[in-house]
Amino acid sequence: MFRLFPPLVSMLLLLLVVAASSGIANATPWCGSERPLAQLHPRVDASEHFTPRHHAHARARGQGEKPTTVVPIAWHVVYNKKAGNVSSATIQKQVRKLDDVYSKTLGIKFEIANITRTRSDWAQTALTLSYLKDSASRQMREALHTGGPGTINVYSLDFPDARGIELKGYSSFPEDISRSPKLDGISFDYKTMPGQIRNGTTSIGMTLVHEMGHAFGLQHTFVGGCDGEGDGVEDTPAQQFPTGYTSGCPVGQVDSCPNLPGKDDVSNIMNYVPQHCYRPYGFTKGQIARMKTLSSEYRGFTF
Ligand SMILES: *[C@@H]1O[C@H](CO)[C@@H](O)[C@H](O)[C@H]1NC(C)=O
Ligand SMILES: *[C@@H]1O[C@H](CO)[C@@H](O)[C@H](O)[C@H]1NC(C)=O
Ligand SMILES: *[C@@H]1O[C@H](CO)[C@@H](O)[C@H](O)[C@H]1NC(C)=O
Ligand SMILES: [Zn+2]
Repeated sequence: MFRLFPPLVSMLLLLLVVAASSGIANATPWCGSERPLAQLHPRVDASEHFTPRHHAHARARGQGEKPTTVVPIAWHVVYNKKAGNVSSATIQKQVRKLDDVYSKTLGIKFEIANITRTRSDWAQTALTLSYLKDSASRQMREALHTGGPGTINVYSLDFPDARGIELKGYSSFPEDISRSPKLDGISFDYKTMPGQIRNGTTSIGMTLVHEMGHAFGLQHTFVGGCDGEGDGVEDTPAQQFPTGYTSGCPVGQVDSCPNLPGKDDVSNIMNYVPQHCYRPYGFTKGQIARMKTLSSEYRGFTF
């Protein structure tokens, strides 16, 4: 098993390291999707030409209009307390939030292809992105995952309410689909969905927006720190640490790699900041190019 999945195992180890060193950075990780670029798709430049390979998900929207890619979501509600059994109306609100951001940036829309509801302790035991055979996370995904690489499987779980625990979600990366097709997908805390209360604050749905960025091939803006290729995107300035929870939104004020060009892109969707600090449609051109390139290559989407 270790032979079969070396990158996955190293990701797991990295997660442990990130967790252990979180006291050094000023923010503990609230997203479990961390991996060095060296193990993933190389850098994509904003100007890069990408070649769509499949057309399966393109649907014409009326005559003369450009086809819009409609991305199906298979939603899995996994709960063991009543509150985690989120209503379809709440799921729709969350998907409308995704539509708002991703129609303005990638020109795509989402549709809820199906919703499953499972009463299980997985709601609390499947909280880490573990590919180990006996992990709850793996069992859950193998049991519930549906559709192919073009379907985004989303698992809404019930993460422990904050107070020290900041993990809100994680996503697999598109580069892993061919190796582990059933493990592809996003798990996140239902309390981050629009209108839900998390740690005393009403959520606006940004966690899934962020996780979807990973599912489309983005890394955190701070991956790799001040060295090397960072997040594999040319127009996101190098960033040493996630900005984290601060009072206010320090846009234009943080420069964690002072010897390199650009200040930290604090309000970028792939940074960690309080939910209201993300700017609307907060992806750069280079991030949009990377999402288009990777999701057409690995998920078969067209743009
Ligand atoms: C969970 O929600 C669904 C849809 O709202 C409902 O049909 C079902 O009875 C709920 N389950 C429980 C245990 O309350
Ligand atoms: C859920 O939707 C996906 C995407 O359309 C589809 O591939 C899959 O078969 C559906 N699953 C079920 C159980 O209906
Ligand atoms: C949760 O709320 C408390 C009190 O407002 C705050 O000190 C803490 O930083 C919050 N934790 C998270 C993860 O937001
Ligand atoms: Zn993340």
